[in-house]
Formats: sequence, structure tokens, C-alpha cells
Amino acid sequence: MEFFLDTASLDEIAAARKQGLIDGVTTNPTLLSREGGDWQEQARKICDTVDGPVSLEVVGTKAEDMVREAEHLVTFGNNVVVKIPMIAEGLVATRELEARGIRTNVTLVFSAMQALLAAKAGATYVSPFVGRLDGIGQSGMEVVSQIRTIFDNYGMNTKILVASVRSPNHVLEGALLGADVATVPYKVITQLTQHPLTDSGLEAFLNDWKKLTE
Ligand code: G3P
Repeated sequence: MEFFLDTASLDEIAAARKQGLIDGVTTNPTLLSREGGDWQEQARKICDTVDGPVSLEVVGTKAEDMVREAEHLVTFGNNVVVKIPMIAEGLVATRELEARGIRTNVTLVFSAMQALLAAKAGATYVSPFVGRLDGIGQSGMEVVSQIRTIFDNYGMNTKILVASVRSPNHVLEGALLGADVATVPYKVITQLTQHPLTDSGLEAFLNDWKKLTE
């Protein structure tokens, strides 16, 4: 399973890169707005820093606007993947971008049927938002499981990118279901490395060693 970092923060990207933990980055308008400043400059810096796909999202809602924005976004780096919202116009844009050789990440996916339509339109990635589904009392992982089954049934190459991750458990369950990628907030990446028994075990080893050597 590949790990993407769900962020627009260069500090978080630098910290995760140092640990060799990330294979790519996903951003969205909310994450870029949190960083402030010139979003284009920020997005270009992210593309320069990351050795792997960087998802940058369009904000148009008409297919022709999305395609125009996508053509601009891909000038930021050869690792750009264009995020397209899962609406009817988005499917038109995805089909057009696929024909132009531009990779897409169809975002705001909340059902397996939406994922199937995105895959049929030629999406490179589909992003089911598991945390937001759990948040309204539905099961995000059930949707991921359905998407995996459908893509496998028909030999579809579109990658399943588990998004809106809230906890290490979302990453674990995504991996068990065979999702291709999880895009993970920095806080959850940190949680993935930790276990209380690791900390208490290390403390005991170091104390015992101190007793032996002092
Ligand atoms: O980047 C897409 C997705 O991961 C956003 O998640 O936390 O806003 O539900 P969230």
C-alpha cells in the first residue's frame, strides 16, 4: 500500500519525507487555504519537493473550466494529478483529461457506484472519503470493500485512494481490503509509528541496561 500525505504544509511534507514515509501528496482547496499566501507558489513548491504524485484540485464546476484549469495545473510539475469532483461535469472532464494523457483523482466519492462511473470515465485514482461517511453513521470501509470487489470483477486499473482518514484503523482496514493508497494526515502518520508497549518496553530495556553498566 502506498502512503500519501494529505496536506499542503511544506513543514509536514519535509518531516514525513525525512522518515521515508510518503509516496505522494494530496491537497485540496481547504488545505491550501489553511497555508495562506500565494496558493500557486505553494503548490509549485510542493510539486518540486515531492518525489511522487501530487494531487491538485480544480475549483470549476463546468467540464470546460475544469479542463482549462487542469491544463494550467499540470504546468506546475510532471508529477501533478488533477483532482476532479465527482459530479456529472467532472466525469466529462475526467474523460477528456484521460484522452489528453493527464492523470486524474476523482474526489468526493461517497458510493461504490460513483467510483465505478469515475473508473469508466478513465480516472487514475478514486478517493472514497471514509471519515466523512463514518461521520454521518455510514461505513466508509464498506464502500471501499464494494469498490475493491467491483474493480476486481471487471479488471479495472483505477487505483483506490482511501481519503478523509481519521485514525490508524482506517489505514489498517484499507490495507486489509486491498486499497492501493491511503492519504493520511500528518497526525495519523505519527500515530501509526507509535504503540504504548513500544514506549514502555524501550524504557524497561534502557533502565535494565543502565543498572548493568553503572
Ligand atoms: O483530501 C481529501 C480528504 O482526505 C479530505 O479529508 O479530513 O477533509 O474529510 P477531510
